Amino acid sequence: MSKKIGILTGGGDAPGLNAVISTLVKAGIRQYGYEFIGYKMGYRGLYRNEFIKLDEAAVSGIMHRGGTMLQSSNKDNLFDYTVIENGVAVKKGDVSGVAVENLRKEGVDVLCILGGDGTLTSARDYARLGVNVVGVPKTIDNDLGATEATFGFDTAVDIVTENLGRVHTTAESHNRVIIVEVMGRGAGWIALYSGIAGSADVILLPEIPYSVEKVAEKVRQRDAEGKLFAIIVIGEGAKSVGGELSVSKVVVDSPDPVRFGGAAAKLAAELELLVDHEVRSVQLGHIQRGGEPSAGDRVLSVRYGYKALELIEAGEFGRMVSLKNGEMSSVSLEDVIGSNKLVSPDDELVRAAKALGIVFGD
Ligand code: F6P
Repeated sequence: MSKKIGILTGGGDAPGLNAVISTLVKAGIRQYGYEFIGYKMGYRGLYRNEFIKLDEAAVSGIMHRGGTMLQSSNKDNLFDYTVIENGVAVKKGDVSGVAVENLRKEGVDVLCILGGDGTLTSARDYARLGVNVVGVPKTIDNDLGATEATFGFDTAVDIVTENLGRVHTTAESHNRVIIVEVMGRGAGWIALYSGIAGSADVILLPEIPYSVEKVAEKVRQRDAEGKLFAIIVIGEGAKSVGGELSVSKVVVDSPDPVRFGGAAAKLAAELELLVDHEVRSVQLGHIQRGGEPSAGDRVLSVRYGYKALELIEAGEFGRMVSLKNGEMSSVSLEDVIGSNKLVSPDDELVRAAKALGIVFGD
């Protein structure tokens, strides 16, 4: 019997979302004869019953495009809904019943939810309400413990690595220290991977509080070797020993209101007092999430999309597709939440980087 599938993308956009949508729709129509609609702007569209019909024409040519054709929001938690009305945050409380009723009205059999931990927490809660849910893991931060890799991460690492190469030439030309701040919230995966790939001299992670003096020592050591510049990568959630997180903004209508930012600028000011160099900071920001997905993320997205269809066809709901030992697999949404994957200070890559002379500030 044909099924009607609703798709939504929640949280921050990540390169690869369109490739998943394209795979779900094209392969779902061709192989299983499913019908698709896409809710606009994540859970907001589900609440407002705003959706578009998704057929092969609608998803044609999107595989390689960044962002999400369905748009996304990292605000609308319908289980504890806050909206801004006339500039004021108004708490609406639990409005999830509206979403369930909208799904029923449209005859949606399965809701396929593409998102990170916030979005998937709601996915789990809809599954608990009896909605047939299949989750697909997305985040550039790569911090979901229930899967080995999320799409978006590989692209973000490529972008940061390319940009480290660019600041490298300026640092070298001007004998400067340049500190590049990267995303990842409390997880240092983007900083660690790009720092190693981009030949950083110092990598500062949220998981390893750093000493500014240790960073200065590395710069002075390079000076003594005649290398009169340095590249430092810092994760936005990194802080010095006993120091504070750098917060750039509090988004009051977001379930996870704190936005990080400023870690590099703060360190630059402190480091400049300790070394004989001009120290500059660069915050890469949303550049890391923008543009086309890497080839690796496109392939991963296709694999996730196709596996999600297999779960739907098998009637395996309340689950998220996941990568396990390099193979496509799935895991209960109940086991996805709260299993954040952080960099261990003893991680093989951290040890390898230290052996290469990269300093982590500890
Ligand atoms: O979770 C993805 C992410 O890009 C984080 O790395 C970053 O801290 C956050 O989202 C930024 O959110 P926003 O797009 O709301 O500024």
